Amino acid sequence: MKKSTIGTVLYTEKQIGDKAKQIASMINEDYKGEDLVLLGTLKGSVMWLVELMKHIRLDCTIDFITASSYGSSPSSSGVVKITYEPALNLYNKNVIIVEDIVDTGYTIKYLIKKLSERGPKSIKVCTLFSKQARRKEDVPVDYLGFEVEDLFLIGYGLDFDEKYRNLPYVSYLAEQDIENN
Ligand code: IMP
Ligand code: MG
Repeated sequence: MKKSTIGTVLYTEKQIGDKAKQIASMINEDYKGEDLVLLGTLKGSVMWLVELMKHIRLDCTIDFITASSYGSSPSSSGVVKITYEPALNLYNKNVIIVEDIVDTGYTIKYLIKKLSERGPKSIKVCTLFSKQARRKEDVPVDYLGFEVEDLFLIGYGLDFDEKYRNLPYVSYLAEQDIENN
């Protein structure tokens, strides 16, 4: 029999922290003199959003949105639902959607469409990870942490069936043989 387990460490807290600093300084430069809404996608982006916002030197507010398409299966259904929406007014605001991972692209495509209806000045996407090889929709990724191969990542906010979000590093879901008794 097999059971799911934690694989080896793929990205350490330090690697992700350094990446957050780099991306935040690009954002600081790109939005100089402007204000900004960092819109984190719950729950996967929480650690990444926290790391990123520490280095933002702009007038910035944060808010959250929850979109789900997954249930407990590791492959996307393509049907996206918004289950929590930002309370902040986004009209005429520069919005950066902060994602944990863009996989098929269904979620980010839907989020951009729905958020556009609120009349923001601009919308960009900042994601910690991207799996370009699995993309089904052509979506913009304006700020990218790491391009990753087709593994199911866990840790640093990313979950499998709501577990592993608390790992302070990123690993992948591995399978382990267990005794059949
Ligand atoms: P998409 O709609 O297929 O692009 O999937 C986006 C969402 O699926 C992400 O925001 C994650 O919440 C989840 N997801 C996709 N790939 C992974 C993974 O490797 N680990 C954990 N969650 C994932
Ligand atoms: Mg997510």
